[in-house]
Amino acid sequence: MPRVVRIDRDHPEPEILAEAAAVLARGGLVAFPTETVYGLGARGLHAHDVACIFAAKQRPPGHPLILHVDGEAMARSLASTWSARASELARAFWPGPLTLVVPRAPVVPREVTGGLDAVGLRSPRHPVALGLVRAVGEPLAAPSANAHMHVSPTTAEHVVRSLGDRVDLVLDAGPCAHGIESTVVDLTSDVARVLRPGALALDTLRSVVPDAVYESVTALEGAARVSPGLASKHYAPHAPVVLADAGGVREEVVAALARGHRVHALVFRPETAAALAGDASRGAAVRMVLRRLPADPEGYAHELFAAFYEADTASADVVIVEDVPGDPPWWAVADRLRRAASKGG
Ligand code: TXA
Ligand code: MG
Repeated sequence: MPRVVRIDRDHPEPEILAEAAAVLARGGLVAFPTETVYGLGARGLHAHDVACIFAAKQRPPGHPLILHVDGEAMARSLASTWSARASELARAFWPGPLTLVVPRAPVVPREVTGGLDAVGLRSPRHPVALGLVRAVGEPLAAPSANAHMHVSPTTAEHVVRSLGDRVDLVLDAGPCAHGIESTVVDLTSDVARVLRPGALALDTLRSVVPDAVYESVTALEGAARVSPGLASKHYAPHAPVVLADAGGVREEVVAALARGHRVHALVFRPETAAALAGDASRGAAVRMVLRRLPADPEGYAHELFAAFYEADTASADVVIVEDVPGDPPWWAVADRLRRAASKGG
């Protein structure tokens, strides 16, 4: 078990931030809450510390990390050019769940960017994350605090379950507000391109950059990958994930139960839940867990990863998920579900 310390979410205790900063200054790894998911932090301008993140996550070296900054001034110091559009977005949405990919300044080690000439930067809104960057006084590299390919943690307990002793200190400020990762936008070309839909809604982003483009994971399947580290399979619980439309969920559940499988069913429409209630309450009950997630995209995103962790804890054999609507407010969730269900690498 790593050391886990409770910290106040809104008014983080300065002495706890100082302890965490000291662990980082020694080259250690600190998991900390952000408004999206928990991050696994190390000093971002020290190649050796950054290498420890890759080792702890067992993450392949080509996958770029996000540098967490305390605002636009620190971000500018890490970029070789900082466009008017970058400023506009930073002023509109920082601190917050938006990562900007911009040309890398030489001070940023190549280990951070996976060898790319661009770097991902984000100023988090969470007082603990922001306080920690300030206590250290330099950018923190932090991917989600989970083992490679596993589900992003939305509680300190998930971090411990996914990484165990591979992290030196975990700051526990309770569940994350969004529960899904930041929206990543590439600003290195003329078009602003959404690389990963996330906690900042696309409509909101487009209120500032109306021409931001997004190609969904489905469109990208089989095509060249825009963003290394965005493998099609990602964010997955240990059990296989099967996506089915509302009409097909019950069929999948019945077939899995007939095979003797322990089933975790995640649905959100009241009628789908009602259709499955009978299966869940019959003799099958011990083999089946039925979870109804909120029917709005923000609420659903907030609970999805916790539901995946729950399926892992219950040693589910299969996670059967009712597919979500295809319209823009659901794109971030749809992206995570497609990746979780993907059999690709
Ligand atoms: O909400 C979040 O973004 C969380 C919290 C901790 O900040 N972090 C996070 O980091 O999700 P990670 O490493 O799990 O995912 C970051 C993704 C990478 O997989 C990569 O696709 C993209 O952001 N990314 C980062 N830097 C990039 C770069 N230089 N070029 C292209 N994509 C980049
Ligand atoms: Mg991640």
